[in-house]
Amino acid sequence: MTRRREPYIAADFEVVPAPALLGAEIRGLDLARPLGAATIVALEAAWAEHLVLLWRDQQLTVEQHVALGRSFGALEDMSYVGLVDGLPREILVIANEPSLNDDLAAPEHYRQGFKFHRVQWHSDNSYRAIPPRGSVLHVIESPATGGATLFADMYAAYEHLPDDLRRAIVGRWAIHDPSLNSANVLRRGATPPADVSQGTGPRHPLVRRHPVTGRDALYLGRRPYAYIGGYDVATSEELLDRLWAHATDARFVWQREANRPGDVFLWDNRCVMHARDPLNPFARRLAHRVQILGEPPLAGGKGAARPSAASCVAARPDASEESS
Ligand SMILES: [Fe+2]
Repeated sequence: MTRRREPYIAADFEVVPAPALLGAEIRGLDLARPLGAATIVALEAAWAEHLVLLWRDQQLTVEQHVALGRSFGALEDMSYVGLVDGLPREILVIANEPSLNDDLAAPEHYRQGFKFHRVQWHSDNSYRAIPPRGSVLHVIESPATGGATLFADMYAAYEHLPDDLRRAIVGRWAIHDPSLNSANVLRRGATPPADVSQGTGPRHPLVRRHPVTGRDALYLGRRPYAYIGGYDVATSEELLDRLWAHATDARFVWQREANRPGDVFLWDNRCVMHARDPLNPFARRLAHRVQILGEPPLAGGKGAARPSAASCVAARPDASEESS
């Protein structure tokens, strides 16, 4: 599939590709209204083509946000992170509330959150056996500067790997360690592995085949305590450092200056990594996110089997609290 770079019409909306390898703004849809079947089919196609979709100036209730997420698949139950003020169980709150940052009595789910910190490059919840396929983020409050969500194209990162690096990882898996969140803060009760080769996180293929597009993507997930099977730790570290430097190179990134209140993002965790710029600690930020249930990652690379329908069966989540 060749990604279009010029604006075009699909179904009842306009697609305006971002000036990057990935990303597109969708214009002409009010997400507060139920989407028709033909619209959803066309949005799925646009999502597969551009990997990240952005709508601007949307006003959604939490119920409308949940309904939007369900347009793309069953959603995960986020209630184990902590229900907030009677919000639907599918909603995860991502906030920086300055008045709470020095408050030791702040709710646990807030103290465990990212607040104003930089969020490192990652793919949501890759430390789970079945990571979510996609995420829908609704930005409700956001400062004029700082806190932008950035995205990187992992299809392109894989396709442009140096040959020696590609040969070193095709057919191999990596451990995705859950000890740190994406702000590099130790999760409550977590103990990092003393030897990364003995880590308990799931093993996912480094080259991941997308079950919808059939394309291969680099699947790194998260850097801390990662380990590539089949190598000694020093070699694994060297390879991972090279892979991460390559994958987050500016040429693969949709650089963005800021998020705006009313922004809604839909991204694909199977072929996209994302990060978030830090923000002023005294600036309020509020976003809600829902996650779309995923499937076990499929191995890609030369000679890998084509995805089958049976391999795409969604499963229940285990743990999840990453956000952007
Ligand atoms: Fe995230």
